[in-house]
Amino acid sequence: MNDHAATLVVPVLTIDGPGGAGKGTISGLVAERLGWHLLDSGALYRLTAQAAVKHNVAVDDELELARLAEQLDVSFPVEDGQPRTLLEGEDVGQIIRTEQAGERASQVAALPAVRQALLQRQRDFANLPGWWLTVVTWERWSFLMHRSRFFLTASADERARRRYLQLQEAGVDASLSSLLKEIQARDARDTQRSVAPLAGR
Ligand code: DC
Repeated sequence: MNDHAATLVVPVLTIDGPGGAGKGTISGLVAERLGWHLLDSGALYRLTAQAAVKHNVAVDDELELARLAEQLDVSFPVEDGQPRTLLEGEDVGQIIRTEQAGERASQVAALPAVRQALLQRQRDFANLPGWWLTVVTWERWSFLMHRSRFFLTASADERARRRYLQLQEAGVDASLSSLLKEIQARDARDTQRSVAPLAGR
């Protein structure tokens, strides 16, 4: 067998798009339907930001944040059919889904050293035994993989409305106009950062 034939080609289907478009919902349904593993790269940025809060690291301390990202102790076990997100053994599934956590994730995601560290983490996941088939939110994979990429988007108004309804359903007080402002600020940061800016093509 030559080197090329020995290379494991992991089939990857990627779903990218701005915050609040429904990437999580859709990728979860697709992964379940296909029986593929799901890797949510946005969750890794959210977890890095959460680790920063936990360890009192400032959101602009690039070197220390990259170190946290490299060593991030995370796991995604499924218990009683429910996916959980553990950071250093603590269930942070809910806390990393808040608007504030999304905002912090967007800030740390703008730092090149953090992106580099998390890209490596994503590659490590895809190389785990059994990760033949993977659905991820999009990152610039620079290694050999079969890839199909989808870009899921909706207007900022629609995403704010969707988020508002989700929060209402969860019994959380929210203001539609502040949600819209937060979404617009996050869009601006994610599309204008210097490294791997969010883009439809
Ligand atoms: O998809 P999400 O809302 O969970 O992502 C949270 C933040 O993480 C988002 O504002 C931008 C960042 N992110 C990124 O920069 N690159 C990715 N591949 C995924 C998320």
